[in-house]
Formats: sequence, C-alpha cells, structure tokens
Amino acid sequence: MLVLDFVRYHQHLTGTKIGCREGDCGACTVLIGELIDNQLRYRTATSCLTPIGNVHGKHVVTIEGINIPKQLNLMQHAMQQENATQCGFCTPGFVMSLAGFCLSDTTPTSENAIASIDGNICRCTGYKSIERAAHTVAIAKQSNAGIAAIDFAIQQNMVPAYFKDIEQRLRGIALLEHPDHEQPIFLGGGTDLYVQKHDDMVHAPVHLLFNQQHVNGITQQGNTCIIGASATVTDVAESPIIQKHFPRLSQYIKLVSSTPIRNVATIAGNLVNASPIGDMTIWFLALNATVHLASAKGQHRTVPLRNFYKGYKMLDKHAKEFIQQISFELPSGNKHFHFEKVCKRTHLDIASVNSAICLTINNEAIVDASISAGGVGPIPMHLAKTSTFLAGKIISNDVIKQAIAIAQTEVSPIGDVRGSEAYKRLLLGQLIKAHFIQLVKVE
Ligand SMILES: Cc1cc2nc3c(=O)[nH]c(=O)nc-3n(C[C@H](O)[C@H](O)[C@H](O)COP(=O)(O)OP(=O)(O)OC[C@H]3O[C@@H](n4cnc5c(N)ncnc54)[C@H](O)[C@@H]3O)c2cc1C
Ligand code: FES
Ligand code: FES
Repeated sequence: MLVLDFVRYHQHLTGTKIGCREGDCGACTVLIGELIDNQLRYRTATSCLTPIGNVHGKHVVTIEGINIPKQLNLMQHAMQQENATQCGFCTPGFVMSLAGFCLSDTTPTSENAIASIDGNICRCTGYKSIERAAHTVAIAKQSNAGIAAIDFAIQQNMVPAYFKDIEQRLRGIALLEHPDHEQPIFLGGGTDLYVQKHDDMVHAPVHLLFNQQHVNGITQQGNTCIIGASATVTDVAESPIIQKHFPRLSQYIKLVSSTPIRNVATIAGNLVNASPIGDMTIWFLALNATVHLASAKGQHRTVPLRNFYKGYKMLDKHAKEFIQQISFELPSGNKHFHFEKVCKRTHLDIASVNSAICLTINNEAIVDASISAGGVGPIPMHLAKTSTFLAGKIISNDVIKQAIAIAQTEVSPIGDVRGSEAYKRLLLGQLIKAHFIQLVKVE
C-alpha cells in the first residue's frame, strides 16, 4: 500500500492531503528520515507514490509530526504572517517542503527555499505570498552559526524536540531481510509505476529494490563512474563525483521533475520505463553508458544503453532480469557534456524534445561526438549517423547545419499534445545548435 493511504486511513492523520495522486500537486508531501552512513538525513517525498515497503526502518513525518505544542512552528508562522494560505488545502504540503529545506544542508538562500517548494502547487492564494514565507524561512536558516541542521531546526522551532532522539531510535530498529526475490515486478521509487498502474499496483507482488544496498551508491573507479540502479536523481545531483565532472549539473537537475519526485525517482526506473523523453535516459545515452543486468539466479550480463531499446517500450531485458548498475566514462579534460530540454512550461513538466551531447574537442576539431535526443521517435534515441558525421570535423556553422540535416534523417517524430512533427523537428535543430553555443561559443 502507499504511504498516503496508510497515513490517512490507518493512522487517521488527515493533515496529509490527497490532490492529484500523481506526484504533481505536492499536497501529500511527507518527510522521510533515514540513516545514511550512520547519520540521519531527511528528504521530502510525495506519499501518494511512495510504497510503504520503501520506508521500512525510516522515520516518516507528516504535518502532524512537526507541530510544536501550543504554538506555530517557524514555517507555519511564516505562512500565516505572509497571508500565504487561503483554503489551506495545499498548505501542509508547502510547510513539509519548507521543513525539508530547514533540515537539509542546502545553502540557506531564498532561491533554494523557493526551489524546495517546486513540487507544490496552490490554486487560490497566489505564489508571491508563499515565496515571501519561503524567504522568511531562508533568513531564519541563515542565522545558523554552524551547528547541525537538525539541532538548529529544533532550536529555532522549525521542528519539535523529539527529532533529537530519532537517530538513536532508527539505530534500534532491526531491519527485516527482504523476502520477495522472485516477485515479478521490480519496484524502484514508484513514480512511474504508481502513476501508470495505480489500481493494479496496490495488489501486485513487487520486488522492492529501492533500499537494497547492492543496487545503491555512486562510485568512481579510475575514470569510470558506477551508479547503482536505485540511486535517485537527487543522489546523482548531490554526488561529489558527478558534481566535479558536470559543472552545469544544477542547471540540468532543476529541469527534471520536482524536489520530492527527484528524491525517490531512480535511474533504473527512468531507463526501464523507456519513455522516449526520459531525461536521465537521454543523458546516459549521450554518455554511452553500459547497463549491468542481473537475475535472481546470479547471472550477469551487460548491454550498451544504445542497444537497450528495441522498439516502443521494448527492451533487451528478460522479465526476470533487473538492472544492478550502470557505468560510463566521466567527462573530463577536453570531453564536455551538455543537456537541453524544452517543455510546455519550464519546470515540473516532461519534455517536448530533449537532447544531450558528449563532445571531445581538440582546439577547434571534434575528436569524438555522441548526441542523443528524446521526443523524436518511439524510443529514446542515440543519433548514430549525426555523431559519426561530427567526429573529425572542424567546428563551424556549416558543419553544425550539416549535422542538423543528418539528424533530421534519423528521427521520426509524431505530432501530439507536446507539439506537431514540424515543431519537434525544429526544436531538435535548435537544441543541437544550443549544445554548440553553450559548449564552444559558436554564434
Ligand atoms: C510528477 C512527475 C514528474 C516527472 N517528471 C519527470 C521528468 O521531468 N523527467 C523524467 O525523465 N521523468 C519524469 N518523471 C517520471 C519518473 O519520475 C522517472 O521516470 C523516474 O526516474 C522513474 O523511477 P522510479 O524509481 O520512480 O520508477 P518505478 O516507477 O519504480 O519503475 C519504473 C519502471 O522501471 C522498472 N524498474 C525499476 N527499477 C528497476 C531495476 N533496478 N531493474 C529493472 N527494472 C526496474 C519498474 O519495474 C518499472 O517498469 C516524472 C514523474 C512524475 C510522477
Ligand atoms: S496527491 Fe498530488 S502529489 Fe500526491
Ligand atoms: S490555499 Fe487553497 S490551494 Fe493553496
């Protein structure tokens, strides 16, 4: 069952609201605290898409759990002072997201406080007053003179004093071994499965992969990066290895879903969902990643991600195989990476067309190129002919124009709610130009 239903219908904690049940509105936001490297860490999640098995051994905090006796907590007070609530339906979600910001190690800027509520929508108050409340919370967090975020949050009435004991209490929980290795449905964060098959999933036998050690973590061996299948988009965003090799990482990450979705959305989930516009899939296609598959019987094999997609939602993967990890060579030196995405609205939207490039350049010459594009065919595409054409060329406007013309021969977009065929073809050309403008400053 989902955390949302457990909280509301079993625990009768009705402060957590049900809006969309699709991860879009944030009314159901809760905090999940867990021990990472033996230290307590909190992240937000949309409880409507979080299977209860994924929070085993963790601290689930609803809006009731951050009430402070006989007074408003700091975030509630800020919302009240700024008149940032009207019907109040969205308010618990906003307050939980701001609580997540307070408990995090994020730099306490107004920009980051506002970014923390990127997964919450309000239909009646208007966002300016909510932004002002977020600003007030950021100012309060700025006064931290270096004590641990949780201790400071308690001191400032952001969360109640019992949070002090949680780390110890979590250490005391005996974690259960996972018994369901043979179950047919692999489950990561659930952000695709519970949207697509909500009614079926509640009764489906699932193999929970989210918390399992052997499919988690981000490591580096030489120049190869290895990402565990259940690493989340936030894990990628916060990894020092990835941050070091992808200088524009924060710009790209904010284009992917929202904070509470990124906190649980896994890399393997994105690859196996096989959406033609999956953002992480497009990244890793350009990076020429290798998919490492395993089966419950201990058999292993690898597949280049470029060969993983055989047709619309058809994969080079047997039903009983799961992704254990992916690996790829990190961009460094003269090898550069760039990602672009165009949506109907900039944030919390899926792409009309997205594209990534990995370009090795020596002076003006392209040593090697790898371009991927989404939204222009039935599968997420590696543009093999375009990539081959670019290798060995001296960068010029003419070469870029020729590359775009070749790319057009490789794709087969269809018109849909995200744009006509002609529009998507135009976008692909513009995104290829944008890669070069951003990476090599051509005009
Ligand atoms: C509100 C919202 C916004 C979103 N925005 C974006 C966006 O901007 N960009 C984007 O790319 N996506 C977006 N998504 C889609 C989704 O968040 C991503 O695709 C995410 O990475 C899926 O990961 P998950 O762990 O939640 O997948 P799940 O739902 O757990 O699983 C998805 C599929 O992968 C399979 N699977 C999971 N793990 C494994 C494994 N280790 N081995 C084999 N199979 C596995 C499952 O069986 C299932 O078929 C959004 C979703 C929502 C709800
Ligand atoms: S109910 Fe809307 S995000 Fe969960
Ligand atoms: S106050 Fe009504 S939806 Fe936000």
